[in-house]
Amino acid sequence: MNGAAIIDGKARASDLRGRIGNWVGELRATHGLVPGLAVVLVGDDSASAVYVRNKRKATEAAGMYGRVIELPADVDQAEVVATVEALNRDREIHGVLVQLPLPDHIDSTMVIDGVSPQKDVDGLHPVNVGQLAAGRQALVPCTPLGCLHLLKGHLGDLAGRESVIVGRSMLVGKPLAQLLLRENATVTVAHSRSRDLPALCRRGEMLVVAVGRAEMVRGDWVRSGATVIDVGINRVIREGKPRLVGDVHFGEASAVASAITPVPGGVGPMTIACLLANTLTAACRQFGVTPPEIFAKNS
Ligand code: GUN
Repeated sequence: MNGAAIIDGKARASDLRGRIGNWVGELRATHGLVPGLAVVLVGDDSASAVYVRNKRKATEAAGMYGRVIELPADVDQAEVVATVEALNRDREIHGVLVQLPLPDHIDSTMVIDGVSPQKDVDGLHPVNVGQLAAGRQALVPCTPLGCLHLLKGHLGDLAGRESVIVGRSMLVGKPLAQLLLRENATVTVAHSRSRDLPALCRRGEMLVVAVGRAEMVRGDWVRSGATVIDVGINRVIREGKPRLVGDVHFGEASAVASAITPVPGGVGPMTIACLLANTLTAACRQFGVTPPEIFAKNS
């Protein structure tokens, strides 16, 4: 039996991108401001290249200016940092994103720390991490922002609800915990060293999984009636064919959950839409204009 409603991230993201496009048009008309996003891609990782191409297409479709800076895999650390510093000074650019992972010989922390906090649309600079943790105005990582708005869009008020996040990364698990706390949810962050992960997961009215392991979360890990957000995108071979699957076993979980995100078409499209939202917000702040209320109440 497949009882769960499908949370259509593609449709929600398309709606969000449409609204962002309208605001971009207004900014251009009233202030002559065109938000600009630069993405730095180092090396030739094929998955990263696809993500970066999609980001650029979405940027331009929203009426923003998009630039991709490609650096060879053997580039040295100083050149990556110098590239980021040049983008910090560039007045056409309001958002800077360095696509991760970087090659092993590059110190990612040094590169991330080199991005101006005002242009850090990935929300990874320690100033933004700290501002978010302190409950102050911050640029917030795009994937957890997308997860939050899928949850709010489906459930409405999250106050008092029990949430379980599996995964404690800087890109997803930790910032999502902060965002859910800000909504007054109860938050458990589980990870690879947690004891009895299935039992912990079963506590969640909201279960968000971001571990990067194909179909790790099985149906009997899911609380009856839970809302499940699957952040994973894993390439696997099934019946001889390449397929994308999430970190949650969709078939099993959707028989138990009340709502679930598909892979693909769930969190992924929301991540890109939230990157545009962050770029618009960053551009408005740098320009001294109040940013629009991008996320309507409960969306
Ligand atoms: N690689 C995979 N996801 C992300 C992301 O959200 N930001 C960056 N910079 N790199 C990524």
